[in-house]
Amino acid sequence: MSELRTAICPGTFDPVHLGHLNIFERAAVLFDRVIILVAAVSGKEPLLPLSRRAELARATAEHLENVVVDTFEGLLVDSARRFGAAAIVKGLRSIDDFQHEQQMAMMNRRLLPDTDTVLLVTSPHVQYISSSLIREIWVLGGDVSGFVPQPVAEALEEMRHQSRQR
Ligand code: PNS
Repeated sequence: MSELRTAICPGTFDPVHLGHLNIFERAAVLFDRVIILVAAVSGKEPLLPLSRRAELARATAEHLENVVVDTFEGLLVDSARRFGAAAIVKGLRSIDDFQHEQQMAMMNRRLLPDTDTVLLVTSPHVQYISSSLIREIWVLGGDVSGFVPQPVAEALEEMRHQSRQR
C-alpha cells in the first residue's frame, strides 16, 4: 500500500449530482488522494455513456486538488487493489442505502481485507437527491438544475435540445 492514504469513491454517476459532490468534498478532506471511479454499467442502458459520466464527474470535482476521476469495470476490489486504496468511500442517505451498503462493505472486506469501507452520511440539504429520480424527472421534461452541478445541468439541457431536434 502506498504512503498516501488513498480512497476510492465508486459509483455509476448517471448522472453525478450534488449529493455525490457532498461526498467527494468530504472525502477529499479525510484522505490524501481520492479517486472517483465511474463504473461501466452492465445490463441496463445508462442515460449517459461511460466517457460522458466520467467527463462530468471530472468537471464536478475540478476544484478539488487531490481528487481525480477514472473508470472501471469488473470487481471493485480489483480496482481498489490496483490503486492501493485504504478505503472505499460511499454516501449513505437512508436506511435503505444502509442495508445494501452494509452487505457490499462486508463482501468487499472479505474479498480484500486491507481495504475498509467508509460510509459518510450525506448532508441533509442534499440527502433526498438520487440519480434515478433525476433521470425520471429529466425524461419527463422536468427541471433538474437544482440537483446537479452546473456542467451536468448544461449537458442534460443540451441533450434535451438535441433530442427535440431529431
Ligand atoms: O452508483 P451505484 O449504482 O450505487 O454504484 C454501485 C457500484 C458500481 C459501486 C457497485 O455496484 C460496485 O461496486 N460494482 C462493481 C462490481 C462489484 O465489485 N460487485 C461486488 C460488490 S460486493
